[in-house]
Order: sequence, then structure tokens, then C-alpha cells
Amino acid sequence: MKVTVVGAGNVGATVADCVARKDMVEEVVLIDIVDGLPQGKALDIAESAPIHLFDTEVRGTNDYADTAGSDICVITAGSPRKPGMSRDDLLSINTKIVSSVTEQFAAGSPNAIIIIVSNPLDVMTYVAYMKSGFPSQRVMGMAGVLDTARYRAFLAMELGVSVKDISALLMGGHGDTMVPLPRYTTVGGIQITELLSDDELEAIVNRTKTGGGEIVKLMGTSAWYAPGAAAAEMVESIVKNSGRVVPAAAWLSGQYGLEGMFIGVPVRLGRNGIEEILEVDLNAAETAMMKESATHVQSNLEALERIQKA
Ligand code: NAI
Ligand code: 2OP
Repeated sequence: MKVTVVGAGNVGATVADCVARKDMVEEVVLIDIVDGLPQGKALDIAESAPIHLFDTEVRGTNDYADTAGSDICVITAGSPRKPGMSRDDLLSINTKIVSSVTEQFAAGSPNAIIIIVSNPLDVMTYVAYMKSGFPSQRVMGMAGVLDTARYRAFLAMELGVSVKDISALLMGGHGDTMVPLPRYTTVGGIQITELLSDDELEAIVNRTKTGGGEIVKLMGTSAWYAPGAAAAEMVESIVKNSGRVVPAAAWLSGQYGLEGMFIGVPVRLGRNGIEEILEVDLNAAETAMMKESATHVQSNLEALERIQKA
């Protein structure tokens, strides 16, 4: 199989590295507009093959002809957040970038599955869906795997337990209105509410919601290790047809009372992309949070419409 990663910056290079290390596809192509950057990073990753022991070929390019016939594409091209910026501030610049790279990629790989990483995530996934013309099953956004990983990491730190025993669900848009769900969070099968007080849980939920911003404040730009690993985990589930159940931005047509938008919901990932959207019961408070998150995504979609008309 062939995986293309668009954008050879911090996240894109990490996705290429993580996918290569999993030694599960024949080829990873890293593409960027900057001359030399994807070639240099791809060569650096390829030179780690004898140490990490993978046979995946990693190539860098500035030419979409080299991406033709890809099975999966991860789009990370675009500007990242700087201190004081929200993900939404990236809407205008990243719409142009995601539109252009999607059109160029899709022309040569009409059967591929696209995973969007560029922000604002839910709306950029919509842009890629419209520009590719692909069925919704083959277009999705990566955010929930990252946000859930942050939530699980913070829980493990607080409880002093292994992250391996923490299973959690988080839904909604990729922003401060995301919806972590303590009711669907367990530690070795034990409900999280049995182990932490309401106040302790609330602090962790709030840290998760602002987890992206916490890193931007520390580093002056946004995260890449966990985002890159998260996107590679989604690629792996598709490549291996393993049916992992993870949150991803998926096109909704009535599920959770929402339609006409991409937003984070639990999905089953396999060889065809989104094999199934899982609908879990939400109580009144959770439904209200999901609605608030959807309202936020909707307002970004309206901003997108204004940009496209201008
Ligand atoms: P970066 O600045 O390190 O890399 C972006 C790369 O995109 C640069 O190398 C740039 O040359 C390239 N690029 C720009 N225009 C391009 C075009 N037309 N064609 C090909 N390449 C192009 O940024 P970083 O940190 O890698 O972040 C990338 C995006 O991912 C940002 O929008 C960021 O907000 C988003 N992000 C999303 C996350 C999520 O959970 N969904 C998590 C982390 C970042
Ligand atoms: C993150 O959550 C900024 O979306 C990026 O790290």
C-alpha cells in the first residue's frame, strides 16, 4: 500500500516517521511546497530504517505525480497556531491550502481515503470532502484520537496507573467545546467516577479541552508528537482493516440529531475508511454539550461560506 502525507512540517514529518516505523506499507510519500524540505525529512527518516528495522520506502517530493495511486492520504499542510491564536483563526489561510492540495492529490488518487489534520479541523475536513468529491466514508478528520490520548494521559498521571488500562470516549468538534465523556471512561473496567471526585474529574476534563493551547503556550507553536502518532494510528487501522473504534470527525446525516457537518463521533475504522458510525446514548447534559460543540462547528462553516463568497 502507498500512503501520502501532505505537508512536511512538524506534524507531517512525524506522521511519515510513525507510519514508516510500523513497517506496514510499501511506500510513504511526503510532499510539501518548500523545495528540499520533504526530500530532506524523507531521507532522514529513511536513514533511520536500519535502526528501527522497517522496509517501508520513504520518499520526499514537490510533485503530485509522485503521489498518484495512493491508498491513504494524511493532509497536514497549513499554518499552525501561534500564541494568542485559536484554531479558528487559521480558517482563511488553511482553506486555500487544503482546497488546493486536496484537488491536486485527489486527481491522481481517486480511490484513496483522506485523513485531515489541518485546522480548524472539522471545517477543513468539510473542505477536503467538497474538493475531493469522494464519498463521505473516505474522508475523515483526526482530532478525537489526539484529544482522547491527552485525556487518557492526564488520567493516568493523576491516578498513577498505566495508560494501557484507560479506555475513554470523547466527542464533538476539535476545540475548547470538545466533549470528554467521563460516563464512558474506565480504568481496567472500573468506571472513572468510582476513582476520582467530581472536582478532580472536572479539572482533567478542562485540561483536556485546553490541551492544545497548553502546548502552544509552552512552545510558541502547536504539538506534533501526539498528533502525528494519532494520525498514524488511524492509518494503521485502515491498512490492517482492524476495525479500531476511535473518535474521528465524520460526516453526519442525522446521527446524534446532527447533519451536514463533520464532527467528532465514535467510528469503526477499516479498509473502506469509516465502516460505521456508532451511536451511543447521551444524557441531557452530554447532549447539550454536543449541541454547543456543533453550534461552534456550524459557525465556522458559515464563516467558510462567507470566505468562499468574498
Ligand atoms: P508546520 O508549519 O510545521 O507544517 C506545515 C507544513 O505545511 C509546512 O512545511 C508548509 O510548507 C506546508 N505547506 C503549506 N502550504 C502547503 C501547500 N500548499 N502544499 C503543501 N504543503 C504546504 O505546521 P504543523 O505543526 O505541522 O501543523 C500543521 C497543521 O496541523 C496546522 O494547521 C495545525 O493547526 C494542525 N494541527 C492539527 C492537529 C489536530 O489534532 N487535528 C494537531 C496539531 C496540529
Ligand atoms: C492541537 O490540539 C493545535 O489542534 C492542535 O494540538
